[in-house]
Amino acid sequence: MKIFTTRTDLQQYLASLNSKTIGFVPTMGALHSGHLSLIAQAKQNNDLVVCSIFVNPTQFNDPKDLERYPRPIEADIDKLTTATCDVLFNPPVTEVYDDNEQWHLNIGQLEFLLEGEFRPGHYQGVTQVVYKLLTIVKPTTLYLGQKDYQQFMVVSRMVDLLNLPVKMVMSPIEREPEGLAMSSRNIHLSADDRLHALVLSRTLNWAKENFGSKAIFELEQEAMERLQTEPSVTPEYFELADGKTLLPANENSQTIVALTAAKVGKTRLIDNMIIK
Ligand code: PAJ
Repeated sequence: MKIFTTRTDLQQYLASLNSKTIGFVPTMGALHSGHLSLIAQAKQNNDLVVCSIFVNPTQFNDPKDLERYPRPIEADIDKLTTATCDVLFNPPVTEVYDDNEQWHLNIGQLEFLLEGEFRPGHYQGVTQVVYKLLTIVKPTTLYLGQKDYQQFMVVSRMVDLLNLPVKMVMSPIEREPEGLAMSSRNIHLSADDRLHALVLSRTLNWAKENFGSKAIFELEQEAMERLQTEPSVTPEYFELADGKTLLPANENSQTIVALTAAKVGKTRLIDNMIIK
């Protein structure tokens, strides 16, 4: 695997290969099987796979979260090598942003719903970094996980608004055998927290099984109660949203996704499930 830390070197190398298709998997590192499933999918469908590891400061609304974000770069390189990823782009912050760079892309209400409400500014940071990375890598296809469902919608909106020439693929959520959605933040969970965190996937499954038997608001209310009763779990939201708009689901919604966020101990986790 080739590793680049500067835009110029990466772009020179990519230009020299002249690959027909480039699959791109942006990440913030601390790689797990969820990330690797995106690499595998990109490998299957492209001549070349580029992964980026960049802990993007502009998407962290909580400085403590940024500070304690895990950065096991050597282990990540080993995992990517085993996964036969072709190229890793691992730039320093100065290679991605100018000093005091500030710009805002208006993506409308998507920015303020759900995660946007609890993490103000988060999606501004996400659109900034994904835009920058796309203009550097110029991939044919961008692979993002369903794990961050709203992120996928936000980036799709940006791609549409700016007419960016890239195809987008959503990859399913990889889970631990007991149901916990894999996440780089799971490393912060104590053994007890890890057990308590199972309430998230359990409640999403419960909502899926009970969908149609109760009104949507009743399902949401009971789901919040189920989350609340679990020790060390503080739920932030549990919502059934229209899969296309992420506005509250209604009878006309063709796809419905249940999305949830909760603090488990000190760690904030998100999860979701497509229920219709
Ligand atoms: P990160 O959290 O590292 O995730 C990188 C990609 O892996 C995202 O597309 C995410 O949805 C996907 N992913 C995470 N956990 C997954 C799981 N359990 N199963 C399947 N896919 C999973 O998301 C980001 O980084 C950043 O916001 C980024 C897009 C890189 C911009 O900074």
